[in-house]
Amino acid sequence: MNDCVIVDLAGRHYDILIGQGLIADAGHRILEAVGRRRVIIVTDETVAGYYLVPLQTALSAADLRFDVVTVPAGEASKDIHKFPALLEQVLALGIDRRTLIVALGGGVVGDLAGFLAASLLRGIDFVQIPTTLLAQIDSSVGGKTGVNTAQGKNLVGAFHQPRLVLADLDTLRTLPRRELLAGYAEMTKYGLLGDAGFWAELEANAARILALEPSPLAAAVAHCCRMKAGIVAEDEREAGRRALLNLGHTFGHAFEAETGFGATLLHGEGVAIGMVLAADLSVRLGRLNSADAERLKQHLESVGLPVRLAQIRNAPFQTDRLLAHMAHDKKAADGKLTFIVLDAIGAASVVSDVDPAIVAEILGRAGAISAA
Ligand SMILES: NC(=O)c1ccc[n+]([C@@H]2O[C@H](COP(=O)([O-])OP(=O)(O)OC[C@H]3O[C@@H](n4cnc5c(N)ncnc54)[C@H](O)[C@@H]3O)[C@@H](O)[C@H]2O)c1
Ligand SMILES: [Zn+2]
Repeated sequence: MNDCVIVDLAGRHYDILIGQGLIADAGHRILEAVGRRRVIIVTDETVAGYYLVPLQTALSAADLRFDVVTVPAGEASKDIHKFPALLEQVLALGIDRRTLIVALGGGVVGDLAGFLAASLLRGIDFVQIPTTLLAQIDSSVGGKTGVNTAQGKNLVGAFHQPRLVLADLDTLRTLPRRELLAGYAEMTKYGLLGDAGFWAELEANAARILALEPSPLAAAVAHCCRMKAGIVAEDEREAGRRALLNLGHTFGHAFEAETGFGATLLHGEGVAIGMVLAADLSVRLGRLNSADAERLKQHLESVGLPVRLAQIRNAPFQTDRLLAHMAHDKKAADGKLTFIVLDAIGAASVVSDVDPAIVAEILGRAGAISAA
């Protein structure tokens, strides 16, 4: 009934279970995967309000002892300045090498709890229970964990793979629509970068997936996890193909940076606009036909994702400020920029010698303004 994706990394492998009722069964699943452990649940206040009691009930049903550490909801909880207090709080609970961290929440909780697990006693086990669509298809797969510094997001962290991932699709019912759509943008990314058939399925099934119909939703989430797991297995440390997962992200990060990485522009919304601009750039570079670029934009727009700069509240943006973020994001020695471009829907490449003047042209056409 549940889908299972096995992530296979040299010498280590773990299951990503995708389906309904997984939180209710979490105690037994954890016992089965890692044996009897003392558990520390890490969650945020919003997610705790919905799913902490069900998880506690499930752990108790399997006779697992647990403590709970709750952080405020939102990206600010990943601030490195808050990390020492969190470490102290967990150490004060008394831990040993067999203590298990369980991350219950979205990507913020997953990244934070994962880095906590990586740091404590030089690395203890952790289990992910992702509760946002983004976390279920992206951040809980691949083992990247970390926190934010003043210099940028995720600059301090570790690769630390979970022992088990429980993606309970029922949790998405309480997720705000905007967060769901932001996760959906990342879902379309998997089709665009490597699977035209999956993209076409998304075009056909978007309404059912976004209405959280169990069977198309489970199939789509499993497909994304399988794709990401496959890419990560062959490229755990991001030397090659893993870079394709950054499709739309160089543009997107620049808009996020200009809007303060907050509610003005969610990460997935930045990625949606970023993918549209990456497609425009691909057309400009003679790699993609304009009909495919239009098809991409239309689909994202049809589900309700932003596709234009003017849809962001702080618009207009200044081209040179955006370019500065991009140069910082992916710098090449000679001032050229690196982008993930599309050769077709379902085929992407890394191009590392893009002339910033062409990027400025794309941004200008999209409505960014040059400095006075
Ligand atoms: N490690 C990776 O590979 C990776 C990949 C992509 C993103 N990320 C990170 O993920 C983070 C973003 O993750 P996110 O989009 O899941 O954001 P998030 O964790 O902040 O969750 C979004 C909001 O939804 C709430 N929420 C979560 N689950 C809910 C539910 N089921 N019902 C109701 N509300 C719920 C949260 O409290 C929060 O307010 C960023 O910090 C980003 O850097 C990491
Ligand atoms: Zn992303």
